[in-house]
Amino acid sequence: MTGVIIGTGSYVPSYVIDNNELSQFVDTSDEWIRERTGVERRHIASDETVVSMAAEAGRRAIDSAKIAPEEIDLIIVSTISSDVILPCAACEVQKALGAVNAVGFDLNAACTGFVLAFNTANAYMMSGLCKKALIIGSECLSNLTNWKDRRTCILFGDGAGAAVLRAEEGKAFLPSAHSDGTKGAALTMKSRHDRNGITKEILPQEMIKEEYFMKMDGQAVFKFAVKKVPEVIRDVMKSNDIKQEDVSYYILHQANRRIVEAVAKRLDEPMEKFPMNLNEYGNTSSASIPILLDELNKKGMLKKGKLIVLAGFGAGLTWGASIFRW
Ligand code: ACO
Repeated sequence: MTGVIIGTGSYVPSYVIDNNELSQFVDTSDEWIRERTGVERRHIASDETVVSMAAEAGRRAIDSAKIAPEEIDLIIVSTISSDVILPCAACEVQKALGAVNAVGFDLNAACTGFVLAFNTANAYMMSGLCKKALIIGSECLSNLTNWKDRRTCILFGDGAGAAVLRAEEGKAFLPSAHSDGTKGAALTMKSRHDRNGITKEILPQEMIKEEYFMKMDGQAVFKFAVKKVPEVIRDVMKSNDIKQEDVSYYILHQANRRIVEAVAKRLDEPMEKFPMNLNEYGNTSSASIPILLDELNKKGMLKKGKLIVLAGFGAGLTWGASIFRW
């Protein structure tokens, strides 16, 4: 058995901050941000939460799959940025959608999370544990962003993307996924609860520590991504006996235009095979791949029977690539 994507959906907040607006409260410029990252604007949650965005993206994916919520038997939400720890986002999505027959759980693998959710749903299907799965990446990174730190706040945005998978007869492509915990210091964020359980929000401003926000060694992450992503893509293609000419698109985590360009160059593949939308949304962590997948689907760019490679990378450090046939 293998998991086939039968529907996609996404949701992004309508409130947008472009680079010029950002430059008004942090020392940066539109030119610097575009040149170094490719980001032009980002969508930022106002009333939305990880759960509300996940539920709406999930609802749209279920509509696009033309199935009933009751048919879903697995829900996985990949997120690092939910404002609620319990109950998990997946159970809240289950409640919002009326997916009463599903088991749900969250997954935290940062920007690799959607790829690992895809792999997990596939593994459930290969072992006969599930028939229809809803997998979602939903992030409210504006909650974790230090808006005074120009090295990070320019990069991130909020949103959610989702896909419905159905188990079908056929050979599954095996994924390639990795972690290297020894390199975890490159991208960190501490819990906002101190040892007495007092949340940061009720502490005086001067007690808010830098480590309560996402901290990143940008150059280390950049070097890691441009080395490991081409490696893992080559690896997954070799182990599944897929040639580059068989692949119609590589859908990469949307972190930085220069990373995507470097990966394309190292694989000696044309940029047309690497769709991007990070100019519009910035880096939405585990939501970036499914938002882009949904956009390509809506534009009719995904042709039946064609092969697509997904590749994610991020905190942990974690990275991985998976293949599926549309
Ligand atoms: N505006 C203006 N100047 C800036 C800004 C900014 N927003 N940010 C940094 N600078 C300055 C720095 O202060 C530094 O100045 P200095 O030389 O006087 O000290 C100079 O620009 C160069 O800074 P670097 O950090 O070396 O800039 P770099 O070229 O590495 O670009 C960036 C930074 C864009 C973050 C880059 O390292 C990058 O894209 N890394 C990958 C990060 C990434 O994609 N992370 C996400 C993946 S994981 C995940 O998705 C959660």
